[in-house]
Amino acid sequence: MAQGFFVTGTDTGVGKTLVACALLHAFAARGKTVIGMKPVAAGIEGGRYADVEALMAASTVAGERRLVNPYAFEQAIAPNIAAEKQGVEISIEVIVEAYRRLARQADVVVVEGSGGFMIPLNASQTSADLARRLALPVVLVVGMRLGCLNHALLTRRAIADLGLACAGWVANGIPPGMRLVEENLLALSQRIDAPLIGTIPPLEAPLPATAAALLNLDAMAGCPGG
Ligand SMILES: Nc1ncnc2c1ncn2[C@@H]1O[C@H](COP(=O)(O)OP(=O)(O)O)[C@@H](O)[C@H]1O
Ligand SMILES: [Mg+2]
Repeated sequence: MAQGFFVTGTDTGVGKTLVACALLHAFAARGKTVIGMKPVAAGIEGGRYADVEALMAASTVAGERRLVNPYAFEQAIAPNIAAEKQGVEISIEVIVEAYRRLARQADVVVVEGSGGFMIPLNASQTSADLARRLALPVVLVVGMRLGCLNHALLTRRAIADLGLACAGWVANGIPPGMRLVEENLLALSQRIDAPLIGTIPPLEAPLPATAAALLNLDAMAGCPGG
């Protein structure tokens, strides 16, 4: 079975896909076979689900698409609402089964959650329930913008309350860049009891390989082979 990680973030659009792809690159650079998974994608653009494509491109093993992405909804709206509109119910068990099958095919599986940690997936379950059911260590991506201290600390607490490990967190400088970023980084470092895996500044070309070079896998709790 693979070592898995569940990538969550302080919000949507904070760099989860960038960091998930960067983790895949970084593990692959260490000689690991890697697969990215996006259990629930919402928002099709130009006929493509960008997150799924990015994760597949960053994988060294070609997982079957229906396993990599069991649920895809065309509208860029909350997954539970998108599912309801299409008369579909997102099943965590279906996702867990897909994960298990992928986990037999690679050394590392990186699962990108949808939205923020507590985003509902159906009438009674959230993305946090999925992380708990998968029992994976969580990587928290903090989009460095005003409001992130509250979102980051709430998310860290939610991870701990579920009894899940936090493998670490990444400070991601989403454009245009935050005022007093150093002070905010310090405030987070002092309060998040998990290792800082890396700090990514606002990048002109936010490519996974560029972000991967800024991550320190050895800092991660539970890093495979680390
Ligand atoms: N450090 C960064 N520098 C520049 N652009 C970034 C950075 N991080 C993310 N982005 C861009 O911001 C957008 C949202 O990032 P993404 O990884 O898709 O977030 P999420 O998966 O959390 O929704 C994307 O267009 C991405 O390329
Ligand atoms: Mg994403």
